[in-house]
Amino acid sequence: MQKKLYLNQKFTKFINNENFEFDRSKILKILNGDLIEDAYKTISNWQKYQPTPLESLNKLSKELELKNIFYKDESKRFGLKSFKALGGAYAVEKIIKGRKDITVSTATAGNHGKSVAWGAKNLGLNCKIFISENVSETRAEEMRNLNAEVIRVKGNYDDSLNICKKESKKNNWEIIQDVAWPNYELVPKLTMAGYSTMIKEISVQTNEYITHIFLQAGVGGMAAGVVAGVAYYFKKVPKIIIVEPENANCVMKSIENNTPTSVNIKKESIMGGMSCGDVSLVPWQILKNSVNNCITVSDKFVPQTVAMLADKVVSDISIVGGECSTPGITSLISCCNNEKKRITLEINENSNILLIGCEGSADMELYDKLLTEGKKFI
Ligand SMILES: Cc1ncc(COP(=O)(O)O)c(C=O)c1O
Repeated sequence: MQKKLYLNQKFTKFINNENFEFDRSKILKILNGDLIEDAYKTISNWQKYQPTPLESLNKLSKELELKNIFYKDESKRFGLKSFKALGGAYAVEKIIKGRKDITVSTATAGNHGKSVAWGAKNLGLNCKIFISENVSETRAEEMRNLNAEVIRVKGNYDDSLNICKKESKKNNWEIIQDVAWPNYELVPKLTMAGYSTMIKEISVQTNEYITHIFLQAGVGGMAAGVVAGVAYYFKKVPKIIIVEPENANCVMKSIENNTPTSVNIKKESIMGGMSCGDVSLVPWQILKNSVNNCITVSDKFVPQTVAMLADKVVSDISIVGGECSTPGITSLISCCNNEKKRITLEINENSNILLIGCEGSADMELYDKLLTEGKKFI
């Protein structure tokens, strides 16, 4: 029988965390249980709330000889098409505390801004969103459709954040940012608490013990929110594997050096939400000891994986997975095809793997392009 094309997917780099020591109480001191509980209580009370599906990648688990591969499909989150809907909008509600005469602001690569804009719209607030030259017009338009004023600035994400901070100070706007800086920790913690809702949902969606989680990272907020959710909700602690683009591996570098380490991004990854050069400080406190391994992957497998999800190559159902949803799948396939890594990670026929399908076709134009390209490789 001919070998399946996708089995050629390979990671770029794989490391062990020499400082691994998962400590629930330490993690929950950084993001405490009250915040985690409140996030779920608040979000699950929103009018349109529904847990996102936990799908089975049954064809892929059979091929890789695993017990289960669960795929949390965040493309279905509140119609906003990414897990980010859980963070920004929740933070807006908590920070605003019922005030109406407030303008909220943020800088974004796309999905976080959409969440803040949506939260502001639901509460009838003005919203200003700062984006860099790298954010597509499709994404900008989606935020305008949520009544936000979108301000495009010269330079990269960091430039958009700096201008957002400056303008917000000048105009007395409330910044709802998902990254931390000195004396700005509450909002990033709230967004992370929002993300932990995914784990609450999973804890009731399956009776299987999850043995491994592959977690995509940009600045690390999603990964740390999920790890805190694991510390709070899961009885057994799975292995945690961080996945990043090969040219934006700030979490991997930081874990290697045991201190936050910047990466100078020479070429932006196509996985735009994950193309980040610095790990955020609050997530770092959680991730530094709770991550078992870090993996980097190349952009070149993104189109193929988008098509694999859409064309039922990995499951019985068709799944809309955008660029950032793909690297967990690539990492899993490449580890399973590498006998040494299979042993290191203790991956076997009893493994229940969790993958986070963090976004759907959030950028429709890019999604269509990736899908068309990827169909040639499945
Ligand atoms: C759409 C999207 N944006 C951003 C991120 C990165 O999140 P964070 O910056 O919180 O690590 C991800 C996944 O890691 C993602 O899928």
